[in-house]
Amino acid sequence: MSSAGNNRPIPDELVEEIKAKNDIVAVVEQYVRLDKRSGSNYFGLCPFHNEDTPSFSVAPNKQIFYCFGCHKGGNVIQFVRELEKCTWPQALKILADRASIKLPESDDEAYREKLEFNSRISTLYLEAARYYYRQLTGPAGQNARAYLKNRAISDSTAKKFGLGFAPDEWDGLVKHFAQLNITDPVLLDKSGLCKRGNKGGYYDIFRNRLMFPIFDAMGKIVAFGGRNLDQALPKYMNSPETPIYTKGRHLYGLNIAKSSNEKRLILVEGYMDTIAMHQAGVDYAVAALGTAMTEAQANLLRKYTENVIVCFDADAAGQTAALKSLDILTSRGLKVLVLQMPDGKDPDEFIKKHGAERFRALVDQALPVIDFKIEVARRTSTHQDQFNILSFQDLACTILAQEDNAIVRELYAGKIGTMIHTSAESVMREIDRRRTVQPTNKTDTLHQQLSDRLNHTDLDAQTNSQTANDLAIREEIYFLSLLADQPSLLALLKDQPGIDDFSPGAMQQVAGRVFKLLSEQKAFDTSILMNCAEALMVNERMLSDLFATASLKLEGNFSGQEPANTATELLREMRLNHLRRQLREAQALAEDLSQPEKAALARQRLLDLNLHIKQLRQR
Ligand code: GTP
Ligand code: MN
Repeated sequence: MSSAGNNRPIPDELVEEIKAKNDIVAVVEQYVRLDKRSGSNYFGLCPFHNEDTPSFSVAPNKQIFYCFGCHKGGNVIQFVRELEKCTWPQALKILADRASIKLPESDDEAYREKLEFNSRISTLYLEAARYYYRQLTGPAGQNARAYLKNRAISDSTAKKFGLGFAPDEWDGLVKHFAQLNITDPVLLDKSGLCKRGNKGGYYDIFRNRLMFPIFDAMGKIVAFGGRNLDQALPKYMNSPETPIYTKGRHLYGLNIAKSSNEKRLILVEGYMDTIAMHQAGVDYAVAALGTAMTEAQANLLRKYTENVIVCFDADAAGQTAALKSLDILTSRGLKVLVLQMPDGKDPDEFIKKHGAERFRALVDQALPVIDFKIEVARRTSTHQDQFNILSFQDLACTILAQEDNAIVRELYAGKIGTMIHTSAESVMREIDRRRTVQPTNKTDTLHQQLSDRLNHTDLDAQTNSQTANDLAIREEIYFLSLLADQPSLLALLKDQPGIDDFSPGAMQQVAGRVFKLLSEQKAFDTSILMNCAEALMVNERMLSDLFATASLKLEGNFSGQEPANTATELLREMRLNHLRRQLREAQALAEDLSQPEKAALARQRLLDLNLHIKQLRQR
């Protein structure tokens, strides 16, 4: 983290000084009433979402905050950024002022140049949009106007969204730019709207396309999408990333939807869906535009509303995208409903066929996420008209076991019971069984210690674990949290940890990111660890939650122990866990009589593994 946003580089030491002079408890207390509870940590009502019981915590010794309700967390700068809804450099400035620290003036030449370049791209895009709009309304736009008419888009709607037309010419836009003295090759190249040809002259990239300007939330044009009018491929083309546009950071239509009277936003897939919905009076529609929902987009939504309706096409691709998006959105503390489009239509087609009224009725029938997931479970448990009760109850109980609210769990247990003709009580029992931890290996001291100390704590509820694998992951989480708390421990370890010491998947990914930072001598602390875990899930939980929980509990759990010993012991357990996993695999192979050769090899491997485990235990 050596620069303030993309713009002005601010020295690391200065950032550290600003953090050091702004104690997170003091800063948070300007906004939130904190009670001291549970060891060294403070709790209070979260300023980022509505709640009645405090789930917002601050750990002074780690200088981090974390909300177990909406999962926002980080250091003091991130706190101010979230609260003031400002950029990182702005948050830094606020904290610098608070501590009477002077930031370097923006007389930084490179910084000023960058700003100026951004403003020139903005101007170029605005001029391009004007040109495209004039083409659409002029003689060249006849076909495009007919196309819009055919798709039932009115003139005023087209105008509202700034739609335009790139005519079927080689250099219409380039000539327009030349008339305005926009000729700087660096600027033209970066714009992604034109390209230098073999003979050195520029030509237009978008030709014979309906043009959709993409606005940021403030209404500034940051990119363009262009749809073909015939069967040419690709169907849509987008202008590239530029200093003012990063894919997955914007939402199409937000500049308009943010002024809707409705206190919610509805998320759709495409340009045309957004536009058709606004025309149908659903003026709070926005689109993620082809990309799967990103964390950045979820955060952007969160700035404007707490309530989101996700509306995806009924095709398989749409469904998968929907499920992924749901996790990202709910993990940001958003209240999410899901609107299922009937019969494979997208909203645009539906409105065209059935009218605005029926579409608005659909919106009112959107399902809570949990109902949607249960519905998906029901559908995927039905094959060739045969409903597989066992498969369904298994999926449904797993879904409900993840629900933290006991009343909601009980409510749905009743529903599931009715669906599979059994009592709510037995469904509840099955859900509870999945939520409780039953350590499989009681003989191992650290497992025992951890389980005892963490029994009925968040981390256990969160890992929702029953298997040896989950226990292994818990140790890995503690190991990394301890390292983040005291990075100097790493040098004290006799055996250095490696990525292979972590469970495959998310844990190896996060370990990879951490070790990369450490090997590059970059700063590393608890809030950076949480950043490294961004978007990663373990057992269907946000990994950053698990790190925050572990970090907040470190002290209580390992007090009185030499941290270096704890780290060594954790690492040893992690390695034992992995050997045990291999042991289980080898065991299964060794008992497989249908493959005698493989079984013989596996038996040899079993001996090796047992020896290895013994040696590790004795250390
Ligand atoms: P229409 O066919 O005009 O109704 O568009 P649509 O929005 O229904 O398209 P679709 O559902 O196929 O795709 C949804 C969104 O994904 C589009 O609005 C685009 O943002 C994006 N998209 C679709 N096809 C392409 C493509 O070929 N290239 C790019 N870059 N994006 C695409
Ligand atoms: Mn469509």
